[in-house]
Amino acid sequence: MRSLPEPWRVKVVEKIVLLPREERERLLVEGGFNLFKVPSEGVFIDLFTDSGTSAMSDWQWAGLMQGDEAYAGARNFFHLQDSIRDVFGFPHFLPVHQGRVAENLLFSTLVRPGMIVPNNNHFDTTRANIEVNGGIAVDLVIEEGTNPAALHPFKGNIDLVRLRALFEESRGQVPLCMLTLTNNSGGGQPVSLANVKATSALCREFRIPFYIDACRFAENAWFIKQREAGQADRSVAEIVREVFSYADGCTMSAKKDGLANIGGFLASRDEGLLETLKQRLIVIEGFPTYGGLAGRDLEAVARGLREVLDENYLQFRVGQVAMFGAKLTALGIPIMQPTGGHAVYIDAKRLLPHIPPLEFPAQALSVALYREGGVRGVEIGTVMFGHTDPQTGEEVAAPMELIRLAIPRRVFTNSHLDYVAEVLEHIRDHSDELRGFRMTVVPKVLRHFTCSFAELPKRAAIPVPAPAVLAEAALVHP
Ligand code: F0G
Repeated sequence: MRSLPEPWRVKVVEKIVLLPREERERLLVEGGFNLFKVPSEGVFIDLFTDSGTSAMSDWQWAGLMQGDEAYAGARNFFHLQDSIRDVFGFPHFLPVHQGRVAENLLFSTLVRPGMIVPNNNHFDTTRANIEVNGGIAVDLVIEEGTNPAALHPFKGNIDLVRLRALFEESRGQVPLCMLTLTNNSGGGQPVSLANVKATSALCREFRIPFYIDACRFAENAWFIKQREAGQADRSVAEIVREVFSYADGCTMSAKKDGLANIGGFLASRDEGLLETLKQRLIVIEGFPTYGGLAGRDLEAVARGLREVLDENYLQFRVGQVAMFGAKLTALGIPIMQPTGGHAVYIDAKRLLPHIPPLEFPAQALSVALYREGGVRGVEIGTVMFGHTDPQTGEEVAAPMELIRLAIPRRVFTNSHLDYVAEVLEHIRDHSDELRGFRMTVVPKVLRHFTCSFAELPKRAAIPVPAPAVLAEAALVHP
């Protein structure tokens, strides 16, 4: 197999620096061992998120110069309208400054207290926007999607049996159904075309509107092309059009597959609904032809949405993440299998069995990554999802201890990721030296953003079992 190099060449560079170890140590201590409090310039390779961190192309940068900054009816709005029509097939949309505003508009209008919104897995902001309106966000991903080691080509699929049961039990209480492509909270796993189609049919049967959280729609379509029977010869553009033909609308954060640093939209076939939401948009974001964005930002999104369908780009993009995952697996570092579209998730419970969940093993690994290599990933474990039981006052751990290494689009080369793998190899060799943490500042809401920690004494080592090696071929439909 030939290696697959980056399908772009570098035209502008941004300096990144690996600070001396003692500087990194100082920043860790000053930030209370919380990576959210380490300044970006103190980070060498930042894998915190793939959201808003993309490198724009020369074509997008050229588009910025054509930003029309008029208050109403800027030309870039119409360019974005054309892109959304061509790429997704949605005739109407409202621009917003990022994805969660689209969620806010939709749920504040459709969700009433006690109503239920199913999804494969709700992203945090989606869940929060449902819950602040008194709704109940229900995750119905297939069983394989909840097991980090399970192999399934479409681990992001929704469980159609449980979805039907929910529709039957909750008649009149489900204002809409959603599917997140790819399933970020479930490891960036894709949803099959068949699952989208069947979800849509079920929604029609029960007359429930069906919306897609479209953040990573192009990566999802690439997986469909690679893994689903009968899809290999179709273009990604064609697959995307079919996927969205089954939906009544979508929420989109253009900070992901829009290849832009800011932006998003809400699209719908329901013109009446959009008219209602428009009034709210004017109050919270701005006039409906700019939705909280500068004209130049609208243009960057209009161009990004077309550019992301480039299959050379997608092959490299999804391939780069898969290759990084395979490298870690070969080094004996347990990751969530198979690798998703935008990130690799390391299973800290398996790598650091000597650190109990209530001493935050995934946090210990995040700190070690920064301490050893200036690399920043995000903890998705007990720091983020653990809580204090209101009845017993006891701490409850999260079901999984993961650290997400999200790969920004077109930003890091393969050699940057080789470096991260080497840092992890070093950590693996010294994993028994890693120490757990105690939370010293415990904020009540979304504690992971602002909490602080103190490092605990070292515990006795426990041997790490070897992870199973995955054959990518096992995922392709015969
Ligand atoms: N839906 C999904 C699936 C997301 O991953 C995100 C953001 C949003 C909605 C909200 O979009 O940030 O533009 O308001 N995910 C980022 C991440 C923050 O790091 O995964 P937003």
